Amino acid sequence: MKALVLSGGTGTRLRPFTHTGAKQLIPVANKPILFYVLEDIKECDITDVGIIVGHTKDEVKNAVKDGSKFGLKVTYIEQDKPAGLAHAVKTAKDFLKDDEFVMYLGDNILKNGIKDLYLDYKNSNYDALISLCHVPNPQQFGVAEMEGDKVIRLVEKPKEPKTDLALVGVYFFNSTIFDAISKLKPSWRNELEITEAIQGLIDTNHSVHAKIVAGWWKDTGKPEDLLEVNQLVLMDLKSSLKGKIEQNVNIIGNIDIGKNTIIKEGTRIRGPVIIGDNCTIGPNTYVGPYTSIGDNTTIIGGEIECSIIIGETHINCGKRIIDSLIGKNSIIGSIKEQLPESGYKLIIGENCTISL
Ligand code: G1P
Repeated sequence: MKALVLSGGTGTRLRPFTHTGAKQLIPVANKPILFYVLEDIKECDITDVGIIVGHTKDEVKNAVKDGSKFGLKVTYIEQDKPAGLAHAVKTAKDFLKDDEFVMYLGDNILKNGIKDLYLDYKNSNYDALISLCHVPNPQQFGVAEMEGDKVIRLVEKPKEPKTDLALVGVYFFNSTIFDAISKLKPSWRNELEITEAIQGLIDTNHSVHAKIVAGWWKDTGKPEDLLEVNQLVLMDLKSSLKGKIEQNVNIIGNIDIGKNTIIKEGTRIRGPVIIGDNCTIGPNTYVGPYTSIGDNTTIIGGEIECSIIIGETHINCGKRIIDSLIGKNSIIGSIKEQLPESGYKLIIGENCTISL
């Protein structure tokens, strides 16, 4: 069996981050989402992985390389335009040939990985196995109607969903999917929809089964989803100390501190918190639960909680920062220090929301 990972797309809902990088490489608990996907695939003993890339291909290739650090053999497949999930499968035909495969969306993350789904599919003769999750907002996803574990109808982003069962971005197929894709016409959003291709399999009496995923699942399309996943992943964080903690530092809960990182005196950390390599935190700083701080970051004073700092960031504003997603190479300073009485000095990307 092969795997097809989707790591193209424009990520419009994650601007400004996706102006400068791939949404699949945004870190959760200091690890890119795409790496969780690749590790889940490796857990299934699948090694032959095609990664669909688009305009962020260089960044993705630079992060994953030939896949050997994950124990995988990676082939990059370029999709000339983000024309839908079914278009991506079609683009990968030369790589997939007639093999069975799992398609895994590179911005999806599941608490329990995909091994159970893989074993179910491997030990069946289904044409397709899809995975579902109960969600409060089904209109934002593909939605399934079921009879037992058989799927009878799938609708992409219905205005009036018949169930709350969203299609998770993990699909197992055999080569019958190509025939179904060849019959598709572009949808209202001008994409070839995999949801409609699977409906095509159902309509031509192919066996399409579904399994409800155990544990949480998230599509990390929006900043609030990323912050929620960060929280969910950090709940399972184990403590690890590779850096240095000065005297008079107060730590409660699980924290993971990277190499060459120093926690300076008078600082309080309430885990779960992960701090990368080469960071300086403090003096007299508070880092609260569910915070991930990427490599080469300095935070002097102030408070931060429930946030993701991607890395290479300098914060010295003495304020309380919560529920924030802070891009690479940011500087958050204090107005008093830099611009007395003249106003805020901000350098921001498109589509930012700033509350001061
Ligand atoms: C895609 C699929 C949708 C599925 C979702 C899962 O949506 O079209 O059926 O529920 O992924 O992440 P998109 O991310 O293209 O809006």
